[in-house]
Amino acid sequence: MSETSVENAVSLQAFQDGMSRLGAAVNIIISDGPHGQLGFTATAVCSISDEPPSLLVCMNKRSQQNTPLKANGVFCVNTLSSRHQELCGLFSGVGKLEMKHRFRQAQWSTMVTGAPVLEDAAVSFDCKIVEALEINTHSILIGEVLGIKSDDEVRSLIYLNRTYHEVGSPPFYPENSRAWL
Ligand SMILES: Cc1cc2nc3c(=O)[nH]c(=O)nc-3n(C[C@H](O)[C@H](O)[C@H](O)COP(=O)(O)O)c2cc1C
Repeated sequence: MSETSVENAVSLQAFQDGMSRLGAAVNIIISDGPHGQLGFTATAVCSISDEPPSLLVCMNKRSQQNTPLKANGVFCVNTLSSRHQELCGLFSGVGKLEMKHRFRQAQWSTMVTGAPVLEDAAVSFDCKIVEALEINTHSILIGEVLGIKSDDEVRSLIYLNRTYHEVGSPPFYPENSRAWL
């Protein structure tokens, strides 16, 4: 292996500006269990494998919810529709409402793990945490998906260029559509 060291010339601002161009679905990650009911808004959610079905969520270690969420051992990724923009704000700390008041703004059910499932989410992935990796400022929570619930309508809430957009039917380029999953 080469011993040449490569200086990192990428500033925080340049990285954040770059990431602002990487549009992503907006989710609220919700957990419940012996360590309390909690939730936060997240775009850092990614599929890992489909056998077993698994995904990851990156969560800031400085969040007060980090330790209790890991201790609960379960979470549900609720992918938001465009109609959920206000709920998205509440779970990112806008208005600094107490957690129980944030939960009162929507309808919830449960699937397998007992983590709250947002009633009209675009899709919800009910997960048990199988591993948590601590990398730099974040915890990478790896969840095995034990339940899925999808809404019929697809009008996703996408965060791009530091603002919210609606994306969904009808597709922009239907002639180029080719499912890869
Ligand atoms: C659009 C958007 C995306 C976010 N994505 C993440 C994320 O992927 N991971 C994360 O830890 N925090 C993310 N946050 C920040 C959290 O939602 C929240 O503001 C932060 O965890 C504050 O937590 P606390 O005050 O409840 O401790 C995002 C916020 C917004 C508005």
